[in-house]
Amino acid sequence: MCGIIGLTAIENYLREPIGSIIRRCLKRLEYRGYDSVGYAYIDKQKLKIVVKKAKGKIDDVTRILDFKNAYSNIAIGHTRWATHGKPSNENAHPHTDCSESIAVVHNGIIQNYMELKGKLVRKGHVFKSETDTEVIPHLLEEYVKSGMKPIDALRETLKILKGAFAFAAIFTQERNKIFFAKMTSPLVLGISNKVKFLASDIPAFLEFTNRVIILRDGEFGYISPQEVYIESIDRGAINVRNRIRVISWTPQMAMKGGYPHFMLKEIHEQPLAMQRTLQSLNIKEILEAVDLIINSNKIFITACGTSYHAGLVADYALSSLLGLPSFTFIASEYLKYFKAFGDGDVGIIISQSGETIDSLIALRKMKEKGVKTIAISNVIDSAIPREADVAIYTRAGPEIGVAATKTFTTQIITLLKIILQAAKQLGEDVEKIESELNKTPKISGRVIRAHEAKCREIGRRLSDAKSAFYLSRGIGVPLSMEGALKLKEIAYIHAEAYPAGESKHGPIALVEPNFPVVFSMLLDEYRESLIGNIMEMKAREAYTVGLIPRNERQVIEHLDTYISLPNINPLIAPVIYVIPMQLIAYYAAVSRGYDPDKPRNLAKTVTVE
Ligand code: M6R
Repeated sequence: MCGIIGLTAIENYLREPIGSIIRRCLKRLEYRGYDSVGYAYIDKQKLKIVVKKAKGKIDDVTRILDFKNAYSNIAIGHTRWATHGKPSNENAHPHTDCSESIAVVHNGIIQNYMELKGKLVRKGHVFKSETDTEVIPHLLEEYVKSGMKPIDALRETLKILKGAFAFAAIFTQERNKIFFAKMTSPLVLGISNKVKFLASDIPAFLEFTNRVIILRDGEFGYISPQEVYIESIDRGAINVRNRIRVISWTPQMAMKGGYPHFMLKEIHEQPLAMQRTLQSLNIKEILEAVDLIINSNKIFITACGTSYHAGLVADYALSSLLGLPSFTFIASEYLKYFKAFGDGDVGIIISQSGETIDSLIALRKMKEKGVKTIAISNVIDSAIPREADVAIYTRAGPEIGVAATKTFTTQIITLLKIILQAAKQLGEDVEKIESELNKTPKISGRVIRAHEAKCREIGRRLSDAKSAFYLSRGIGVPLSMEGALKLKEIAYIHAEAYPAGESKHGPIALVEPNFPVVFSMLLDEYRESLIGNIMEMKAREAYTVGLIPRNERQVIEHLDTYISLPNINPLIAPVIYVIPMQLIAYYAAVSRGYDPDKPRNLAKTVTVE
């Protein structure tokens, strides 16, 4: 969940201090973790490694880290999300060996570090931090001391390490090379003629190159200004040329583009992202997925967080439209269904990053039992789509804000496209719904333009609340779960979503005057009963907010405020209704003085169990 970066350029090629480049790259990785930051470079005059690191976000420690005065052609950097050891100057990366001639940055977890640390300490190694990472430079040091070259030391080290990790190392003895290894945690290489990069994610180096190699598990090697060497633990040396891909993301996509936060930019980007998704969905892949779904014994859907909510929307559409019930579960809870997984079943795994470890494990557990798997992801060649039988990409462009926004709406669009195609093959007439789905880019644009100001007002009003409810019925329930998650994770306001009918069975006890309750009313058969639920809340003097269909008059008198949304098919409504929810949460967070792009304790991609 940390971000790592490394770059090595031919001598005198860089036009600015390497520290300034590392800082920019780390800023673009900051969404992965931001409790401390550091970098290391080889000082070519003194032939030694210089390490600078500190607790805090990049902007807060820029002066201390003195990026502008770091000159070299080779450096590695790190932005941390603490797993082993609290955020502190000592635990910040890079970590070095005893002689400070090896420096390492690492993302992930070394599971057997306690055992390894014990052995190394007995051999006389001195540790300076509480991290699991620090065993890596000391292990490398052991092998180098025994006469091995860094690449051989790396190979031997990998044989010993257990866990999920990606790391980069520099050695004073190999002054132009950055060594790397990847096992489960993501790592990509950026290739250009005179400079090579490695990073946890592509946007880090996108301003320099869009030619990338996505590393696979068990791969290790090095980059130098003019060479890329990759070896696999099982398969030996890899032909690098065959692995280079040119990606279509532009540097602008990974910048704020005039918006104060990535989250706001990404909310506004939704019409475009939806358009891109609709235009680029590959019909061959959709048909493969449909074939698996309609011929399956059972359907399992799994994901985490926002992606799980998209899965619940798909679950609802599958059963209500096709009468195909699915078992939808939070990925880390796969054990509940493990015995039920079997040949002839299909699993749909949804993950924006494609790297969420819980979802990856659930996918592997399904495959172990013969389940055919379909991955829905935004990141080409990431672990989950790579390991699935069918990979379908949302192509929403990079999402940097920690809170998922455009990836949620494009996931639903992708899932609905698959389900509507399945419906057609099963003889259902879904032409009207499909044509509405195709209009979501336009409709969402209109919704943002028409309602952002009102959402700001509601967000401000909610910013004083300690707690809130999000209520709806039917497909509006996962939508409400998503609205509540947004408010919780970026504005730090406790929010719960419930099926509105269920609120009377306990939760309503919390309601007192001015308690905010956000209702989503869709154009479905729940209308009457939902109005009843709104009235119940109003009778208890709750502050009632309604997201309601246009022309819905009867309910207005029971609402303190409302946003009237286009009349659309309820199956598609989550794509549109979630937009005001995202904006409300965004403005609540900003009113409370929080940075919505970097919510506390969170990271964009969760690569630890
Ligand atoms: O990359 P994934 O879709 O697998 O990530 C899943 C969750 O970690 C993610 O949706 C998380 O809940 C977001 N912070 C929600 O905004």
